[in-house]
Amino acid sequence: MNVVVTGGAGFIGSYLVKQLVKFNHSVVVVDSLYRGKMDNLSPVLDKIKFRQLDIRNIDELRDILKKSDGVFHEAALTDVQESFTKQKEYHDVNVIGTENIFKLASEFGFKVVYASSSSVYGDPDMIPINENSERKPINPYGQTKLDDEFLAEKYSKMGVSIIGLRYFNVYGKGQTGSYAGVITKFINNLRERKPPVIFGDGTQIRDFVYAEDVALANIAAMQSDVKNGFFNVGTGITTSVKKLAQTLIDISGLSLEPEYQKPLEGDVRVSQADITLTKKMLNWEYKMNLEEGLRKFFPL
Ligand SMILES: NC(=O)c1ccc[n+]([C@@H]2O[C@H](COP(=O)([O-])OP(=O)(O)OC[C@H]3O[C@@H](n4cnc5c(N)ncnc54)[C@H](O)[C@@H]3O)[C@@H](O)[C@H]2O)c1
Repeated sequence: MNVVVTGGAGFIGSYLVKQLVKFNHSVVVVDSLYRGKMDNLSPVLDKIKFRQLDIRNIDELRDILKKSDGVFHEAALTDVQESFTKQKEYHDVNVIGTENIFKLASEFGFKVVYASSSSVYGDPDMIPINENSERKPINPYGQTKLDDEFLAEKYSKMGVSIIGLRYFNVYGKGQTGSYAGVITKFINNLRERKPPVIFGDGTQIRDFVYAEDVALANIAAMQSDVKNGFFNVGTGITTSVKKLAQTLIDISGLSLEPEYQKPLEGDVRVSQADITLTKKMLNWEYKMNLEEGLRKFFPL
């Protein structure tokens, strides 16, 4: 297939590009390099085409996307804390930029598989969370992802094929410095022989899913006969942030104790995916268990 990956120089996008290359697809990466890095793509640079471009620019996008059979849309501004202070920018990139992809899909007929997020659920009343759970984001970033889902529903009703994957907490090497998820932040501290910093009491639970598994979920969604819908991409297994910190300290062999600070605004308390629907409809299941995935960060 001729595919385009927006945000392909970013953390998850680059895992996806590598998998697509492995399966011999012809890949064009579109990324503004706002946060992504060419380094993330270095093993496959001679096998892909790269275009530095902002997804808000629909005219330039049109030229690239019109020739594609499918578009994986990963580009977004992704930092929850930053989204409180840059709400307009988050809306412009995450919502207007995403609508540009949907508009072009309706013009040219390609299928879109895009990155939604478990943040659309906010703090759920019940776990595990299935796809019919109420959507009530608790931060501006999550709101942009919910606005995208409303757009996906609108364009789906117009006959456009759009699948939204609600990623839970994705981890793996290559996450971007200060905007990274909790695992990368803990690893960065350990690398400097500093303790992991826990915001809150550490009893908040997360569903961590490995980036390569997320990449494979995207490919499964693109290749499936399913045309529309939203699907959870997680493992269904939960880990507390406290347990995560201890596991990483244990693997590192360092003698450190986690440091506790006050909770972060907009941080969800609990998160756990119900992946029944994804397994059944997309025939996808995670492969990497957390401890094995964490060991991939070592030696530091
Ligand atoms: N990492 C997670 O745990 C997680 C969880 C849920 C959903 N997601 C979603 O997955 C997708 C990928 O996230 P990530 O963790 O790889 O983040 P990332 O920041 O590493 O990747 C996003 C990429 O988009 C690019 N980008 C940003 N603005 C752009 C613009 N205007 N035009 C073109 N490119 C632009 C960035 O340069 C970057 O390469 C995002 O849509 C994110 O919201 C991530």
